[in-house]
Amino acid sequence: MSDARLDDIRRDMRASCAQRIVVGISGASGALIGVRLLAALRRLRTHETHLIVSASGAITAAQELGMTRGDLESLADVVYNVRDIGAAVASGSFITAGMVIAPCSMKTLAGVANGFADNLLTRAADVMLKERRRLVLVARETPLNLAHLRNMTHATEMGAIVMPPVPAFYAHPKTIEDVVDHTVGRILDLFGIEHREIAQRWSGLADEFAQRRAGDDQ
Ligand SMILES: Cc1cc2nc3c(=O)[nH]c(=O)nc-3n(C[C@H](O)[C@H](O)[C@H](O)COP(=O)(O)O)c2cc1C
Repeated sequence: MSDARLDDIRRDMRASCAQRIVVGISGASGALIGVRLLAALRRLRTHETHLIVSASGAITAAQELGMTRGDLESLADVVYNVRDIGAAVASGSFITAGMVIAPCSMKTLAGVANGFADNLLTRAADVMLKERRRLVLVARETPLNLAHLRNMTHATEMGAIVMPPVPAFYAHPKTIEDVVDHTVGRILDLFGIEHREIAQRWSGLADEFAQRRAGDDQ
């Protein structure tokens, strides 16, 4: 086989491997964010999803949504046990486009921010940071203590994007799904994934008032 052909094959392999996104669901409130993110990625078909659910993540999903671990896992393409520290996503040689932890508990944030990779979820995030890949932490807690704030700063300094799931009221959300999908849309934006039908985009105040006037006239 020629060198040029080998280069082509390597390029194709890297491109298809980069179509993987690791999704982590930890034990913060907001399991629905992880669920709707997985559902969106399945609909959009841009990336293969690799899911890690922490023990507390399974508990919060059961409490908030009545979903079992199996229900969560059925939304992903590939599933890992959070205790399986030898899984593919524990290595930087397993190429991915990056990772989202949604929702991200303050405990998992602390592990990520301090390089304390004691389970597959924090190890996979550690890999993203060492490989300089995209890592989005949908950190959820309120109010925040100094440890939370410092850990957010540490994670940001290392290259992670800390993205609390804060509602945008200018989008006039009517349902919990509307609120969650706004966050899901912003997560997809951070990976350059187009998602027109999931979350509306802001197109300026003039447009906003024009749309409202059109509504009043009807
Ligand atoms: C119903 C429920 C809601 C919780 N909400 C939060 C939360 O919003 N943020 C947070 O940091 N921890 C929250 N916790 C606590 C975490 O689950 C706990 O700190 C756990 O150890 C996190 O583990 P993990 O990061 O391995 O998932 C919640 C726990 C329960 C049971």
